[in-house]
Amino acid sequence: MNIRKYREADWSQVWRMIEPVFRAGETYAFSPEITEREAHTIWVESPQETYVATGPDQRVLGTYYIKPNQPALGAHVCNCGYIVAKRARGRGVASKMCEHSQQQAVNLGFRAMQYNLVVSTNEGAIRLWKRLGFHVAGTLPNAFCSSSAGYVDALVMYKELEVR
Ligand SMILES: CC(C)(COP(=O)(O)OP(=O)(O)OC[C@H]1O[C@@H](n2cnc3c(N)ncnc32)[C@H](O)[C@@H]1OP(=O)(O)O)[C@@H](O)C(=O)NCCC(=O)NCCS
Repeated sequence: MNIRKYREADWSQVWRMIEPVFRAGETYAFSPEITEREAHTIWVESPQETYVATGPDQRVLGTYYIKPNQPALGAHVCNCGYIVAKRARGRGVASKMCEHSQQQAVNLGFRAMQYNLVVSTNEGAIRLWKRLGFHVAGTLPNAFCSSSAGYVDALVMYKELEVR
């Protein structure tokens, strides 16, 4: 697996991968009715950088973005979002992207990484982020309105990075 910077030619594959995740309304707060244009802004234009993980055949298996979580005095903490194609899950793609993003974060000068709204029902993701060194900074009661489960808790997860 290779992880490289997103190129505009990747968009159709990236959109095909992220669209069902947003439509499902289970893991990200974006509207399930989000348009392709809005998704492009959110995933590609607003973040500082966007990356894709590709397989041996160059097909896109996963994607993540990185951006400052807050302006100015909070801008040393970054935020990332990760999505893996359904067919490629459970093979370590997200683990590799998370490790890559932590290294990129350090390269970009960030000192910590924060996930703002990890949905409590997303147990696999919580397990994964914990395994990769994140801790639960707090639980926000009923902060996420899940399409299937209604109001559920969301976690703020945080990791200080090894800054050289
Ligand atoms: C959450 C998500 C990003 C995880 O992606 P993934 O690529 O399946 O994650 P990984 O493969 O790295 O890890 C998942 C599991 O596979 C296991 N795994 C890792 N490498 C593996 C390998 N080579 N072979 C088999 N299993 C492996 C991991 O140990 C982990 O097991 P666990 O669930 O028992 O902890 C993906 O399910 C997804 O895109 N979900 C929808 C969007 C989402 O929820 N994003 C995160 C928001 S916080």
